[in-house]
Amino acid sequence: MRKKALICGNWKLNHNLSQTKSMVEEVSQAIKNNELVEVVLAPVAPLLFAACDLAKNTSLKIAAQNVFYEQKGAFTGEWSVNHLTELGCSYAIVGHSERRQYFNDSDEGVGKKARACLDGNIKPIACLGETLEQRENGQVKKVLTRQLGAVLSQVKESDLENLVIAYEPVWAIGTSNTATSAQAQEAHSILRVLIADKFGPDRAESVHILYGGSVKWQNIKELMAQKDIDGALVGGASLTAESFLSIVEGSI
Ligand code: G3P
Repeated sequence: MRKKALICGNWKLNHNLSQTKSMVEEVSQAIKNNELVEVVLAPVAPLLFAACDLAKNTSLKIAAQNVFYEQKGAFTGEWSVNHLTELGCSYAIVGHSERRQYFNDSDEGVGKKARACLDGNIKPIACLGETLEQRENGQVKKVLTRQLGAVLSQVKESDLENLVIAYEPVWAIGTSNTATSAQAQEAHSILRVLIADKFGPDRAESVHILYGGSVKWQNIKELMAQKDIDGALVGGASLTAESFLSIVEGSI
């Protein structure tokens, strides 16, 4: 039986407090009878408390867009998994390509962040994906193998049902140049086989592998029809309730 789809909206550096409150209220209300999709929103860190407070007792889940792997110490500007669980977060995005690009998140650091999340009952959404240059040079499998390997090196079999992987080809992010469903399925299949090589095919099926990169209501159905695509990590199209909910609806 197919896993429950997972649709996560990554707001990145967008939305103020009132916009966050109104969208959390509107989306949580709209999905209250929806048992078919796990719906998640990822506001900016300073607004996580407000978002979690409004989302509690609803089926809407809240994700952080990042988290550090230490629990405490001299790490100015960071926050820990414990802080997220205290707030009521359920997920944390780790290793987004923008974190890797602008803030030097390394493969090793992303693996440690995933481990810290799993230790703290937060489900990591571990992001990976190739650049256009890497794709053009035929390095997709090499890049995905390296990036996923850094995460799987930190993961035990018992973690797999709480592990989420997001394949986000960098060249598709924010460009409206969505990967074709065939390109996305090919990459997801590589990831699924790598997980199966370590944990076996049955256990590999318990991992949610999301696609991200210019997901819109127009392409979600075709993407979700792919065998190894279990959901989506949505950026720009998650910024309005109408657009985001049309993607949630289209994923069913
Ligand atoms: O994390 C999701 C994001 O990187 C995708 O952005 O705007 O291409 O949907 P967008």
